[in-house]
Amino acid sequence: MKDQVLSLLARLESALGPRILELSAAAHWGTHHFIRQLERIRAFEPRVVLEIGTHFGVGAALLRLVAPRVITLDVVGLPAVREVLEIAQATDVVPLAVADDREKQILVEALAFDLAFLDGDHDREAVELDFALTRKCGRVLFHDYEEIPNTACPGVRDAVDALREGTVLRDQPFAWWQAR
Ligand SMILES: C[S@@+](CC[C@H](N)C(=O)[O-])C[C@H]1O[C@@H](n2cnc3c(N)ncnc32)[C@H](O)[C@@H]1O
Repeated sequence: MKDQVLSLLARLESALGPRILELSAAAHWGTHHFIRQLERIRAFEPRVVLEIGTHFGVGAALLRLVAPRVITLDVVGLPAVREVLEIAQATDVVPLAVADDREKQILVEALAFDLAFLDGDHDREAVELDFALTRKCGRVLFHDYEEIPNTACPGVRDAVDALREGTVLRDQPFAWWQAR
């Protein structure tokens, strides 16, 4: 897994420049953290992973290493996504751009997926909305979870810490929620 991830990131960086990794969960806090989550995801054997927050598509390309189908959506459709997915040869990654949260809600309600990765808007209300939309799948991974008081993303921490049902596993800078 580690070799696959590092080799893919190196290919993307060499073809598209270091900026392509900007904001990606794969690089933001250190690649080893994301690799750990990919290994967890693979163990769950999901058929379809839904990612909220595509940006350049790097996270989606990596999720494809551990799931046969990835749907990724964003409120912005960036042209780099196509290039990233081509270079990664990430077939069966479906990037979707929605106009706003209302359109996202309609779309997600209609989708079937068995694991969700939340990495869109990091404000508490936005995280809570994305969680409300995706919790039906039973397994949600949050990015940018940090317990420390002055965390960069207090909205993620506050939303996760307020969860009262199901099981929460904190593995900073990620957190998992499972229905049981
Ligand atoms: C941190 S980046 C995602 C990085 C990506 N998950 C990766 O690992 O490569 C956050 C993305 O969330 C998107 N975003 C912001 N608000 C959103 C919303 N309300 N719904 C969905 N995506 C949103 C932004 O446009 C941005 O592309």
